[in-house]
Amino acid sequence: MKTVAVVPAAGSGSRMNREVSKQYLSLAGKPVLVHTLEALEACPGVESLCVVVAPQDLSTVRDEVLAPWGLRKTAAIVPGGRERQDSVRAGLEAVARDADIVLIHDAVRPFISTELVERCIRAAAETGAAALGVPVKDTVKEVTPDGRIVKTCDRTVIWLAQTPQAFRRDIIERAHREAFRDGFRGTDDTSLVERLGIAARMIPGDYGNIKITTLEDLAVAEVLLRLKATGERRRTNGEGRESAVLRGPMRKRFEP
Ligand code: CTP
Ligand code: MG
Repeated sequence: MKTVAVVPAAGSGSRMNREVSKQYLSLAGKPVLVHTLEALEACPGVESLCVVVAPQDLSTVRDEVLAPWGLRKTAAIVPGGRERQDSVRAGLEAVARDADIVLIHDAVRPFISTELVERCIRAAAETGAAALGVPVKDTVKEVTPDGRIVKTCDRTVIWLAQTPQAFRRDIIERAHREAFRDGFRGTDDTSLVERLGIAARMIPGDYGNIKITTLEDLAVAEVLLRLKATGERRRTNGEGRESAVLRGPMRKRFEP
């Protein structure tokens, strides 16, 4: 079974509000895009990568990102389009005809683990379509444009979709073809597959698999990277022991 990863990296990062697009910003001295590509290249199940970049960045990415950082699994760099969906569609056209599974992963999610990528690929091979996601932690409200809360959603059934999302190649190609034909716009790829009547499998992801969208995400990313480097990440997963900083009666409850 052959899996190709498509990495949309053609956005301008308008919510980050920086001159340089967020996928090229430095995270501990390395572009965010390089962190993401390295994570995908480390997955044995991913055979090759197709990176989609803004047309004006094609040669810069080839000469200043892929070559110097030694990214060898990246087989194609293709120009993207106006919206994410257009960029993914451009990437799909460059995917080798003999690929069985297409894994789509945002360039700005650098903390993806090999284990979750492989789980996503396996689920797509079994069911046709799969996405990583996490249950919401906050209470979710439906709000009118003029700011009135009209509904509280049932939190137990609401998940936040992440990437990677993986698909059998024929399914994702048909989903994009039909969305394009119908002028349908979705913010992720499973939303296009849903229109075909196919229920994608939700794979429990990782709250640490953040999408770098605004400035504070970059600060969080620096911290996550430091924790990862020192192996302290396990503490955020409930292992290890937090030290109590409280005084008085409350402190006693935390003491062994
Ligand atoms: N993307 C893309 N082509 C576009 C728009 C987005 O390939 N025309 C990519 C981004 O580069 C990013 C991913 O899709 O890796 C997720 O999109 P998002 O977080 O929305 O990034 P931007 O569109 O760049 O940011 P913003 O929406 O704030 O402008
Ligand atoms: Mg966007």
